[in-house]
Amino acid sequence: MEQKTDELTQIETVTLSHYNQNAEAFWHGTKDHDVVQNYEAFLAPFPKDQKLDILDFGCGPGRDVKYFQSLGHRPVGLDGSDVFCNMARSYTGCEILHQKFLSLALPQHAYDGIFANASLFHVPSQELPRVLDELQAALRPGGILFLSNPRGEGEGWSGQRYGHYLQLDSSKVFMENAGFKVLDHYYRPTGKPIHEQPWLAIVVMKPPARQ
Ligand SMILES: C[S@@+](CC[C@H](N)C(=O)[O-])C[C@H]1O[C@@H](n2cnc3c(N)ncnc32)[C@H](O)[C@@H]1O
Repeated sequence: MEQKTDELTQIETVTLSHYNQNAEAFWHGTKDHDVVQNYEAFLAPFPKDQKLDILDFGCGPGRDVKYFQSLGHRPVGLDGSDVFCNMARSYTGCEILHQKFLSLALPQHAYDGIFANASLFHVPSQELPRVLDELQAALRPGGILFLSNPRGEGEGWSGQRYGHYLQLDSSKVFMENAGFKVLDHYYRPTGKPIHEQPWLAIVVMKPPARQ
């Protein structure tokens, strides 16, 4: 069923107020999460010594912006929660864009990579193709998009947060329709049986420039 503008606005407003209201608890609950596997998968396609322009899409309080900065990259965060934006700015000193996923205003061909850790699933299915097109346009040719999302089927409210859940095959359809090439995927946490791995991480590439 088609979602109207009012409903999409409500999805963003309610989800973002949840994050705003629970920002400190979120920080304490996630600042020590071990996402090294995701960092490595995201950075693997790049030459080891290349310093990268990275957009952390849905950066939250800035844990991953700080990590990419510590490696000498040039990360820029983006989040729709003004509380998280302020936390990420003071934690990292980096540029943090206060933008909502459904009304992005990104520069074109500006980033080598986009790291979307636990964020893209907040985009309703109806809007996902448009948002993926905008992310693709923000990447340089050959640029990398990393996404990690809770997997499942369908979409709707989980408490005050709206989520859209995909499995590998349905994720691939969205990615390939947007013109990305799927390079890698894995389930998390690593080393568990599949039914105990609620997270699906995928690495995709924007086509390189024609020679
Ligand atoms: C589960 S948190 C993940 C945060 C961070 N990437 C991490 O791994 O800890 C989802 C993030 O997406 C942001 N977010 C959710 N919906 C959004 C929207 N419509 N526009 C912009 N940001 C949004 C939230 O504010 C939050 O920071």
